[in-house]
Amino acid sequence: MADGDGADELRERLQRVGDCGVLRFITCGSVDDGKSTLIGRLLFDSKLLFEDQIRALEHDSRKYGTGGHEIDFALLVDGLEAEREQGITIDVAYRFFNTEKRKFIVADTPGHEQYTRNMATGASTADLAIILVDARKGLLTQTRRHTYIANMLGIRHAVLAVNKMDLIDHSRSGFHQIVSDYMALAEDLSFASITAIPISARYGDNIFQRSKLLKWYNGPTLMEHLDQVEAAADDVLDKPFRFPVQWVNRPNLDVRGFSGTVTGGRLRSGGTIRVAHSGKEAVVSRIMTADGDLDRVNAGEAVTLVLDREIDITRGDMLVEPNSPSEVSDQFAAEILWMAEEKMHPGRSYLLKSGSQTTPASVTALKHKLNINTFKKEPAKSLDLNEIGICTLSTSKLMAFDRYKVQRETGAFILIDRFTNQTVAAGMIDFSLRRASNTHTHVMDVNKARRAELKGQKPAVLWFTGLSGAGKSTIANLVECKLARNGRHTYSLDGDNVRQGLNRDLGFTDADRVENIRRIGEVAKLFLDSGLIVTCSFISPFRSERQMIREQVERGEFIEIFVDAPIEVCIERDPKGLYAKAQAGKIDNFTGIDSTYEPPDSPDLHIRTSEVSAETAAETVIDELVKRGLIG
Ligand code: ADX
Repeated sequence: MADGDGADELRERLQRVGDCGVLRFITCGSVDDGKSTLIGRLLFDSKLLFEDQIRALEHDSRKYGTGGHEIDFALLVDGLEAEREQGITIDVAYRFFNTEKRKFIVADTPGHEQYTRNMATGASTADLAIILVDARKGLLTQTRRHTYIANMLGIRHAVLAVNKMDLIDHSRSGFHQIVSDYMALAEDLSFASITAIPISARYGDNIFQRSKLLKWYNGPTLMEHLDQVEAAADDVLDKPFRFPVQWVNRPNLDVRGFSGTVTGGRLRSGGTIRVAHSGKEAVVSRIMTADGDLDRVNAGEAVTLVLDREIDITRGDMLVEPNSPSEVSDQFAAEILWMAEEKMHPGRSYLLKSGSQTTPASVTALKHKLNINTFKKEPAKSLDLNEIGICTLSTSKLMAFDRYKVQRETGAFILIDRFTNQTVAAGMIDFSLRRASNTHTHVMDVNKARRAELKGQKPAVLWFTGLSGAGKSTIANLVECKLARNGRHTYSLDGDNVRQGLNRDLGFTDADRVENIRRIGEVAKLFLDSGLIVTCSFISPFRSERQMIREQVERGEFIEIFVDAPIEVCIERDPKGLYAKAQAGKIDNFTGIDSTYEPPDSPDLHIRTSEVSAETAAETVIDELVKRGLIG
């Protein structure tokens, strides 16, 4: 409604509303619970529509609507669903309306199951959630999921809107049954208020107008409630100052400025800030904007800060209030909502983004997942789409953050898949595990360089990846023989061997393979540190884990060798008779049969063993090591 011809008039009207604050809310529930009709009703009854819009709506209702002469309010907002069907993805549409008392911003998100991620986006700034339930159906899985997410994201007030009361003959007992089910469900959640209201969005009952058909109900109408419910009690302005640095710039030649948006609190020119990571402090000498300098800046405003002295600050640093600084850690407990089709596996490396900070991170342990029907915790090994888990995370770089419960803006993060760039999870930091400050890396006097020097070589990890039967171990063995003959010190790690000892507890599910490779990566790193040339022969089917190991070692120390043979050739060779068993259904999750292999995009060496002999392949590897200056 805010755009189009009426936008100016609307803006003017909104300005006339007294300064009573804004209430941000979301509507959630299942697809057919009547969300669009309700939002359409709110916009319509708040008289924010203009004559021509009403005429168009009446016309459309006759043409496409629910039939009869009534207006189909859903048509007002169903554009969202229509756009989605046309393949235009809209995550969240914000709609505005007002009453005499207050302005409202509704985050409208498509209700389908796969759009839980959008619901989470809309919810992260909302004060209140309207949870819509179809009176005939009662609580559904989606109701439970949205309730939990709304609470987890810190929404303070819940409204249980039991809709379509007309379809259960305005039954008081029907309403009370749903309310008592809901109250039992929400018992342990932390909403400041839960208000249940029987409504009929279609006929406007108990929306703006008190319903004559629901006389037994004495509570407020939806709008009475929305008008008076307390909005954001925890005002971001009252929180400690937080300023994630988006970029460092030079507004002019002599000045270095730090640009970004204040996410919490306020700051005066002349005030002191601290760099969360380094603990260094400085005084703010100027607060610059495109329209000139400011004396003070509040949460929500974008500015460039100039400091009175040169201190090291880069993008991703956070400037904070010295008396109430954020925490800094690389180990957290967090709650995450998994939003990808592909499962979440502990141990896999993702990119974690929080404010302007980005760092590789992995879920070190999945403690529990949530049973969405009971809100009870259950043990779990991985998370599926839309599941919620409680886990510990470890980041490669130290992160400045607040606990989500204390400051939403700096306590939230997302996880991004490194290869597809898709956002796979939304997370909230519960607390820091403080392991970072408790376990210090002990610096040894004899280090990797010294150990390698004694052996007269440069250490490296030669990582052979490929299908079972492709020839990894055969080539690795020949390479190790050649190196040994040359007086090189080596060690070899191999799937079949490691799985009999260290990784005896692991099988072949995706999650177990991720953990298998993670542990082997750690072991390979130790051997590397001892100055050895380590050959590693593992199927290592996933790009993420191979990439993670590459990032754990120094540049040039990890050499990825793709031992490539077509699956038909491997089946034909079948050295261990395993393919035959897999094809006969006697082994599950066999790579290439019913488990994935992700070939490297750009391996350091690509060896096609159906075209060259193992001996030639081993020579190629040795040549590559010489070329890289790893061996003479
Ligand atoms: S990985 O996928 O986790 O990297 P890894 O290299 O350790 O696998 O182990 C693979 C070896 O285990 C194979 O060479 C094969 O001998 C044996 N194996 C047993 N079951 C399977 C299976 N389901 N899939 C693949 N390999 C299997």
